[in-house]
Amino acid sequence: MITKLALAAGLVTALSSGALAQDLTGKVIGFSQIGSESGWRAAETSVTKLQAEERGIDLKFADAQQKQENQIKAIRGFIAQGVDAILIAPVVATGWDDVLTEAKEAEIPVILLDRGIDAPEDLYLTSVASDQVLEGRVAGEWLVNEVAGEECNVVELQGTVGSSPAINRKQGFEEGIASAANITITQSQTGDFTRSKGKEVMEAFLKSSNGGADICAVYAHNDDMAVGAIQAIKDAGLKPGEDILVVSIDAVPDIFTAIAAGEANATVELTPNMAGPAFDALAAYWANGTEPEKFIITESKLYTAADDPAGEYERRKGLGY
Ligand code: AHR
Repeated sequence: MITKLALAAGLVTALSSGALAQDLTGKVIGFSQIGSESGWRAAETSVTKLQAEERGIDLKFADAQQKQENQIKAIRGFIAQGVDAILIAPVVATGWDDVLTEAKEAEIPVILLDRGIDAPEDLYLTSVASDQVLEGRVAGEWLVNEVAGEECNVVELQGTVGSSPAINRKQGFEEGIASAANITITQSQTGDFTRSKGKEVMEAFLKSSNGGADICAVYAHNDDMAVGAIQAIKDAGLKPGEDILVVSIDAVPDIFTAIAAGEANATVELTPNMAGPAFDALAAYWANGTEPEKFIITESKLYTAADDPAGEYERRKGLGY
């Protein structure tokens, strides 16, 4: 069990940029979080709370339990309370125009965290997220190099239907393998970013692919689904990482355990610290009206067995995943 103190100590070391965080004491900020579907999501929640605490922010946290209607209700509640700013991790990409217009009319700046939306850009101050198309492309290009011209049938575990990472990571992976006629996506289905759904869908893929003999690789839109898939592959009597290659996105501690054990092959990092840049943008905006970049893009780094997976596990295990 990770104590709050150990978590905070781990965070200070892992997330410190060297710069002092601005004191935002007295500011009240609402955070509409999606839920807790994955290890990465749990870490983002922990990191956001700690980044707020470090700046003296009074963070009002609302867990939407994967439902957009709950997010919209929470945002309307934040507007009614007159918060100073609102952070939103939007579960899906569409359907935000009305509520964001209400926030704009109330002159409350909104910052999007980790997922994009299809809405006019003047409805939010900035968006802090990765380039999700690039994440998929990095995963696809890794596979192209790894199989080096061999025929390879890939099964794909997609994220939540209608969410920006599911849409963009699919597109990016397809771009990454586009030059390789030897690689084909044979099956693709949502596993909703959860470990249990990832396992369930992988079991169905294995059954319909000659017990897995016809599958060369699994591409999962997040590590949790990959971990579920690894279990399904083992239950089917095959060796994940060898009989079936495993590539995914997030870089959570559990995937490094799997990579160290040879059961997963590659992951693309998504930092859980979206809130730090968001709070810094707000601090500058409030200090002198500085408009942040519309899109603050976080890094997408590839990790494989060559990148000290055991050490990466140690470095991340205190981050609240
Ligand atoms: O929006 C980021 C994605 O959401 C993460 O990759 C996934 O784990 C989470 O559920």
